[in-house]
Amino acid sequence: MKNLISIKDLHNKEIDNLFSLTNQVKKEPQFYANHCIGKNLALPFFEPSTRTYFSFATAIRKLGGDFIGFNSPANTSSSKGESIEDTIKTISYYCDIMAIRYHRVNTLSNLANIVNIPIISAGEGTGEHPSQTLIDLYTIYESFPNRQVTIGLYGDLKYGRTNHSLMMAAARFNTKFICIAPSSLQMPEEYINYAIEQGSRVEFAENLEDVYKQLDVVYITRIQQERIADSKQYESFKKTFKINKELVAKLNYNSIIMHPLPRLEEISRDVDNDHRAKYFTQIKNSVPVRMAIIMQLLRNT
Ligand code: NCD
Repeated sequence: MKNLISIKDLHNKEIDNLFSLTNQVKKEPQFYANHCIGKNLALPFFEPSTRTYFSFATAIRKLGGDFIGFNSPANTSSSKGESIEDTIKTISYYCDIMAIRYHRVNTLSNLANIVNIPIISAGEGTGEHPSQTLIDLYTIYESFPNRQVTIGLYGDLKYGRTNHSLMMAAARFNTKFICIAPSSLQMPEEYINYAIEQGSRVEFAENLEDVYKQLDVVYITRIQQERIADSKQYESFKKTFKINKELVAKLNYNSIIMHPLPRLEEISRDVDNDHRAKYFTQIKNSVPVRMAIIMQLLRNT
């Protein structure tokens, strides 16, 4: 693994190695406290972020390193019209590794070709979000160590990049998927085809009520308002997806509910304390998983 821009950059073996390293980090965090001394992680984020930005910053600090970054490009020279290539090349001279969040797909792999350091995608437009997926998959396999799961992807499957990466990653471990969304927000064909090529079964549904009994994982996502031009359409989509206490009461006892967050109204707060709610566990796992990613890419394990 030279960069982490797509889930396709990783072999299954590398995913397993990352998860083993994450287990080690969780068990003995002190052992890793000096692993990245003197290393600087740059975090140029051209879209808003809370969890991804702060957890990458925390991860490098816990490894003994440091970070530089911005969470909004307004105060950088890109607001003067500088090209993304020049901005990223410049920042690459100040750091050892970089996690970039960008709003246009098919940008990061080109950027990786013009710098000499490892590049991590921290979310690329409507495309992929591979580091979030490693957190999500790690969290799923904590609950289901035999890895035989049916995942219901429920929400904005068209624009929600965490769905895309999760489908591609989990497909490699013999997962069944049910894509639950109205047809205008369904999963793009390229990800469905990839999952099928990997040997996964993919089914479709319009409503969670029709399929929840079959699900081990309910992976719900926000409607991506910033990527939907028609505000009326957004308002109608917003009401479509909902998980509340009544629905959770009907789920299988061992099922889990996941969300990459931020949530808007799609999960009501009264679900948070249910033993099946794992979205705060995802947050807890984000730092050790990202520590493992940074160490793997810097070859400092
Ligand atoms: C997601 C993202 O940025 O794609 N958030 C995250 O990184 N945890 C999900 C979202 O914005 O809906």
